[in-house]
Amino acid sequence: MIKTINLTKKFGSLVAVDNLNLEIPGGEIFGFLGPNGAGKTTTVKLLTGLLKPDSGKMFINGYDLEKDILKVKETVGLLPEHPFLYPKLTGKEYLFFLVHLYQLDLLVNKRVLDLLEMFRLSDFSDELIETYSLGMRQKLILAGIILREPKVLLLDEPLVGLDPQTAKLVKEIFLKFAAQGKTVFLCTHILEIAEKLCHRIGIIQQGKLIALGTIEQLRRQAEVDGNLEDIFFRLTEKDNYPK
Ligand SMILES: Nc1ncnc2c1ncn2[C@@H]1O[C@H](COP(=O)(O)OP(=O)(O)O)[C@@H](O)[C@H]1O
Ligand SMILES: [Mg+2]
Repeated sequence: MIKTINLTKKFGSLVAVDNLNLEIPGGEIFGFLGPNGAGKTTTVKLLTGLLKPDSGKMFINGYDLEKDILKVKETVGLLPEHPFLYPKLTGKEYLFFLVHLYQLDLLVNKRVLDLLEMFRLSDFSDELIETYSLGMRQKLILAGIILREPKVLLLDEPLVGLDPQTAKLVKEIFLKFAAQGKTVFLCTHILEIAEKLCHRIGIIQQGKLIALGTIEQLRRQAEVDGNLEDIFFRLTEKDNYPK
């Protein structure tokens, strides 16, 4: 569960997130869409305590971010916009490093190998991360997140750089997460994926939530009879998107 109440973040005079109210239950894949600079990454950073809000409240699985940030960090799996990996570790070393860092049960060791296999990284697991392609790095980071079995997933553009097979695998993983009652918060520019995968969608523009609902509800709000792309352009058209 993710809840924000009047969440606001300013950078100087710029209001990056403007009185955002969201309530996303467990079991839902929520798509957070918006043009570049709309405030998506800022929202994710607020929800993980990487940025402090100017005002408003946030709750994750009932934990108040102001009071229980450590509990929130245990609960959340974050895929940041610019993930960091240690270039001088191998893929396998990285995952075992996480096992120790997060003091995971050592039974997880087998899961490390299973995850490497699942993401088709086994053949490269003893190579240094610095030799990995963008897609392989993305897969390793996702494996590291899944390893910890978070209850809430926050993903900032998770499908960038993935080949079609991995994108499919990742989508299946998100569906499985949701089926287990977990919350998936997915920032994406890829409208087709949002349309196929997300139960509900929020559209943010200049920090303000301008639309929220199922595709069908958004279609009615936008008064267009098209796909999510048509709906998105109509709802955000004051940014001069093609009509
Ligand atoms: N650390 C920062 N300092 C100043 N302005 C920032 C900072 N981070 C983001 N911004 C501004 O906040 C707005 C929202 O950015 P961001 O949340 O990254 O958008 P999105 O992820 O939707 O593309 C943009 O105008 C961006 O330039
Ligand atoms: Mg962003």
